[in-house]
Amino acid sequence: MSEPTGAARRRGPFQVGDQVQLTDPKGRLHTITLESGKAFHTHKGAFPHDELIGAPEGSVVRTTGNTQYLALRPLLSDYVLSMPRGAAVVYPKDAGQIVTMADIFPGARVVEAGVGSGALSCSLLRAVGDSGSLSSYERRDDFAEIARGNVERYFGGPHPAWKLTLGDLQDNLVETEVDRMVLDMLAPWECLDVAAKALVPGGVICCYVATTTQLSRTVEALREHGNFTEPQSWESMVRNWHVEGLAVRPDHRMIGHTGFLLTSRRLADGVEPPLRRRRPAKGAYGEVEAPVAPKTGRFLKMAEESADEADE
Ligand SMILES: C[S@@+](CC[C@H](N)C(=O)[O-])C[C@H]1O[C@@H](n2cnc3c(N)ncnc32)[C@H](O)[C@@H]1O
Repeated sequence: MSEPTGAARRRGPFQVGDQVQLTDPKGRLHTITLESGKAFHTHKGAFPHDELIGAPEGSVVRTTGNTQYLALRPLLSDYVLSMPRGAAVVYPKDAGQIVTMADIFPGARVVEAGVGSGALSCSLLRAVGDSGSLSSYERRDDFAEIARGNVERYFGGPHPAWKLTLGDLQDNLVETEVDRMVLDMLAPWECLDVAAKALVPGGVICCYVATTTQLSRTVEALREHGNFTEPQSWESMVRNWHVEGLAVRPDHRMIGHTGFLLTSRRLADGVEPPLRRRRPAKGAYGEVEAPVAPKTGRFLKMAEESADEADE
């Protein structure tokens, strides 16, 4: 049985063409691509790539200036943070959340927009595997080219499950029977109609947005749309720890904000979203206590129901 795309490049002794991450004694990183006959130069001397070709991962090389470098293949989380960028990338902590919470499974049919630098595309492709499909839409040709380069460099060539389309998702989406849709863009609410058309009943839509205003607008649009379940919204924060002897404490610095995530599921056709049992907080929608969502009127029903419950 042949190995999944890219797997052969992630194990075994270093080969020509491998990306190698070098760590110096101060923890500084350099990424090189191994070429026979080439040398890695720093102000602390040089060493020939040939010293690493054929050596096991985790080897240490020494420059002519006697500085040691630890050589390892970059993990996907290292790779996306060091690869060329067009747009801001989805950070590894959020990519992990997306793969798990949007339930990206091997063999899934997934649609993604926008592609930006292709960081999330790499995680999604690894999760769907060679038997799945990832159809990615990007409106900017310069970003699409950067993304293609990054994804192909990561997998060592084109990935059989990947299709990249240039253009706005809402004007170009052709897929139907889509299991999962992931939107990382400025205005995901503009894509809900096409998302609802493409997704299978029970399919997951997952949006990643940078600001609270985008989060609010996306959630309200999903509620109002009528084809989706009540959205779940969250953010994740990762705090690294300094662990050394008795000095065990959180790192002084952390990435304080990346973005917000939300997920919702596609309802079956013709089904009204179930009533929310909890009443919106007083003032949540301004002066009017119980606004009517235009398509479903369910906020009004909910308000009536709450009033009934209060009377009981
Ligand atoms: C933050 S970037 C995506 C980053 C990407 N997820 C990554 O991890 O590298 C947002 C991208 O969405 C694209 N975009 C915005 N609206 C779009 C739309 N309606 N259809 C397709 N692409 C869109 C932008 O051009 C931009 O490249």
